[in-house]
Amino acid sequence: MNILWDSSPDALERFRFVLGPDTQALDSASMVARVLHDNLGVQQVVIGPEVPLEQACELAEAARLDRPELGVILLRSRVDVTTLGAALRAGVREVVAADDQSALGEALRRSRELTSRLLGHAGGVAKDTGKIVTVFSAKGGVGKTTLSTNVAVHLASVGLKTLLVDLDLAFGDVAISLQLLPASSIFDAVAMSGHLDESGLAQLVTRHEASGLDVVCAPNDPGDADRIPVNVVTELLKVARQNYDFVIVDTPPSFTEHVLAACDISASLVLIATLDIPAVKNLRVAMDTLDMLGSPKDARIIVLNKADTKVGLRPEDVVTAIKTPIAVNIPNSLAVPASVNRGVPIVLDDPKNGVSVSIRHLADAHLREQVVGEADDLQSTRKSLFSRGRR
Ligand SMILES: Nc1ncnc2c1ncn2[C@@H]1O[C@H](COP(=O)(O)OP(=O)(O)OP(=O)(O)O)[C@@H](O)[C@H]1O
Ligand SMILES: [Mg+2]
Repeated sequence: MNILWDSSPDALERFRFVLGPDTQALDSASMVARVLHDNLGVQQVVIGPEVPLEQACELAEAARLDRPELGVILLRSRVDVTTLGAALRAGVREVVAADDQSALGEALRRSRELTSRLLGHAGGVAKDTGKIVTVFSAKGGVGKTTLSTNVAVHLASVGLKTLLVDLDLAFGDVAISLQLLPASSIFDAVAMSGHLDESGLAQLVTRHEASGLDVVCAPNDPGDADRIPVNVVTELLKVARQNYDFVIVDTPPSFTEHVLAACDISASLVLIATLDIPAVKNLRVAMDTLDMLGSPKDARIIVLNKADTKVGLRPEDVVTAIKTPIAVNIPNSLAVPASVNRGVPIVLDDPKNGVSVSIRHLADAHLREQVVGEADDLQSTRKSLFSRGRR
């Protein structure tokens, strides 16, 4: 959980996109001290531009002694050398210009990593707590790449260490959707088979600079797809899980052996349908196949994309056909293909668009919940240190 401390009533609205929904807005030093004392799940405190520097430094100094794992990030309307010096001396981890949301996202990501290390996790993220999410549909063109790229970009820009893996090995278009120029691809993992580790994985990723997302792209040559053994994919995902908070997997429109391997070690499966009979039939078949393979039903998150299209079939009809509730409805919007053509994911290009709102809801309410819960559980076992007379 994060705290945003600022006296302006608009602060939460202004920074919520980067901070995420598990953020509590507070407007006084005493309230911040009280919440820190009562809630050991708080990991980051972002101090807004309206808070006087001396008060911010006071909190940072106290936290440095009592809760060294707590990340304190200071937002200032103007960042000058005096402010920077005073803040860093007091123990503030980063000072960020208040109008630079992507710098705040990056600062949060770095700070979370440091917090995680100070809490004793290896590699910045607790071993095996990173969550693999596979986005799948047995029908092509329903929005798998749109969803996986946007969910991943959103998670990365709120400061979670996130990796997107393009498992559409022959026709993957994650790189082009994010305007990446990859120097390596998943095919390069083949040479590391059996000894792939954190530094090997780092050589495979391409950074999406605007969000801080890491991406393992599909091979340039579609012919290389058949030369990637399935165990390489499993090994890569296992290493990724140990080094990232989230690993999002985009897939081709069929149950290839690589897709099955990814489903097998995924904590969540996002299954997508649209309002047309073939898509719904294919979703039904995919769910039956997963049942047969023993894949747990409660790991599935059903998403209806282009859910407001007026084509005769209604969302209720889909629920009846698949006998499972829809978790998230994503509207149809021409802004989606427009953002793809610009190479800027819609969550960054048009954050207020209904598609962006639904995708953030999918990420925050259905995917992030579990990770946040785990972090809180871990912290609740720790003793309160932030206690003496700071109410
Ligand atoms: N909510 C939406 N509103 C409007 N257009 C959308 C929406 N979601 C996706 N699209 C468009 O639909 C097309 C297919 O989307 P996308 O490439 O994400 O599907 P896919 O399932 O990954 O396809 P494939 O199976 O070929 O990999 C794209 O042109 C995309 O811009
Ligand atoms: Mg695709």
